[in-house]
Amino acid sequence: MCGIIGYCGSRSATRLLLSGLKRLEYRGYDSAGIGVVHENALQLYKKAGKIETLQSIVPDELEGNWGIGHNRWATHGEVNDINAHPHTDCTGKIAICHNGIIENCESLRNRLEIEGHRFSSQTDSEVIAHLVESFYEGNLEFALKATVSLLEGTYGILAISVDNPRQIVGARNGSPMIIAIADNEKFIASDVSAVLAHAKQVIYLEDGEVASINPDNYEISDVRNRSIDKKIEIISLELKEMEKGNYSHYMLKEIHEQTDSISRALKGRIDEKQATALLVGLNMSETELLAVKRITITAAGTSFYAARVVAYLLEKIARIPTTTELSSELRYRNPVVERGTLYIAVSQSGETIDTLMAVQELQRKGAPVLSVSNVVGSSIARESHGGIYIHSGPEIAVASTKAFTNQLAAMYMFALKMARMRHMAWSEGKKFIKNLSNLSDKIGEILKNADKIEQLARKYSGAKNFLFLGRGINFPVALEGALKLKEVAYIHAEGYSAAEIKHGPIALINSRTPSIFLVSDDHLYSKVLTSMKEVKVRNGPVIAISTERNEQISRIADDVFQIPKAEEDFYPFLMVIPLQLFAYYCALELGCDVDQPRNLAKSVTVE
Ligand code: AGP
Repeated sequence: MCGIIGYCGSRSATRLLLSGLKRLEYRGYDSAGIGVVHENALQLYKKAGKIETLQSIVPDELEGNWGIGHNRWATHGEVNDINAHPHTDCTGKIAICHNGIIENCESLRNRLEIEGHRFSSQTDSEVIAHLVESFYEGNLEFALKATVSLLEGTYGILAISVDNPRQIVGARNGSPMIIAIADNEKFIASDVSAVLAHAKQVIYLEDGEVASINPDNYEISDVRNRSIDKKIEIISLELKEMEKGNYSHYMLKEIHEQTDSISRALKGRIDEKQATALLVGLNMSETELLAVKRITITAAGTSFYAARVVAYLLEKIARIPTTTELSSELRYRNPVVERGTLYIAVSQSGETIDTLMAVQELQRKGAPVLSVSNVVGSSIARESHGGIYIHSGPEIAVASTKAFTNQLAAMYMFALKMARMRHMAWSEGKKFIKNLSNLSDKIGEILKNADKIEQLARKYSGAKNFLFLGRGINFPVALEGALKLKEVAYIHAEGYSAAEIKHGPIALINSRTPSIFLVSDDHLYSKVLTSMKEVKVRNGPVIAISTERNEQISRIADDVFQIPKAEEDFYPFLMVIPLQLFAYYCALELGCDVDQPRNLAKSVTVE
């Protein structure tokens, strides 16, 4: 979603802001802008479209060594140049960038207009510029603090004034913000990726904090002017991890990385001797874990489907009743929090607003919340009691792929630990670990046949509707497969339990609606086969993702993609790979913007 960056130092701000915005573009955006100050003049450039379009209107040698920049993902007001950020006050001396949503913008705008302020955009964010103006008497930090005390909603705000040379002030509430520290220069941004090329030392701001930076110094305080001491953290991420390398798209790179990323998730976390998992980050003692009577996992999108897979597993191997709930629903549902229930929030980005708000609501009710996240230092990871980092490495493509399999791996280890503390025998634990450790090779086998999926995509990408069908632990994988195809190829797809088609979706079956069946050799195998036949006799094209050497399936399906055999609980890791590839190659066939699909954002930080 929106990305934000500010720079003050002695280098060209324009170049640094534009390259920072480019690094942030994976988050999803529709317009961009920068405001750079030189000799007391604010130079503003804003444009709808990609960073390249903005770049084309910014003069090559634009002078100035401090300023702010923003990628906008429209919420209030259409996508156009005027609604792009930065926004300015009536004097044109103050500029702001804002991530988030100001919920009381209408009443604030009315009041400001009555006071004589003139608005030029349709955005909620512009009220911030005028509010800062109304409070500004030479102290920008004071004016921003007074402003945020009137705001309802979420924000990450940067403000500059030409009258406060080389100072940038930032405030955070619900929208991530970091300060990056380097010699004689400072950055302030919504995401470490924007600054990684220039600084390794960062400070994560918390909600309610206000930061003021200049090239030599930084100060952090709360709205009551109490100074706050913050820990400086070192980013371990390397810039090359964020590069596309020889791949044509990040999505393809990330799909192929899964052989390595899954091994990273397991590394150092397997106790071979005791046949269990070592998860120190949980911050829960064995006694506390043993007292867990129920588990609820909450998440959104792909992370939610990973949660649903794991719910099957936890109930099966640890015998702990486990439910899943969309975080967007849970946060407003006034959930009943009972002693003995453990909550787990799953989020690749660690910034998804619905999941973050669900975590906060659960904590207000006294519930223990663990997180399963990819981004170290992200809001959800920091605000939960403990958790597991999935270590998939940065995921840049909007469509989540390697994070899904690593979320599974992280939570499978958690399930192993919970199971071993309860009913699972040592020998079973050993088998489970072996199955986990074999996944990387099996994924590698599937990836070797990516060209076969490419051929299938060529054959079927003209279809307007798809059904993805699976059962048991593979049912959530069918949902994930349908989500991937919708996201990147813009093809309508529905995920269903194969058993459910008779209750309605079978009416959709005709020769133009392909069904992708996930057929693993488990206890539901013959049931899935029956559903396949039901589709086939109604002339529906059938694509089966099934295990090696299965003649029975080949006789029914029009096309079969074979995956290696595995223990039944481990098929979700394998089934999802061809579905990711299928979505990717369909998108490619249809000329879609694979890495940044229309209307989507990588981390959804607004409602
Ligand atoms: C996945 O391909 C999507 N881009 C989306 O559904 C995503 O999984 C969802 O927004 C949740 O994100 P999170 O894992 O960062 O919380």
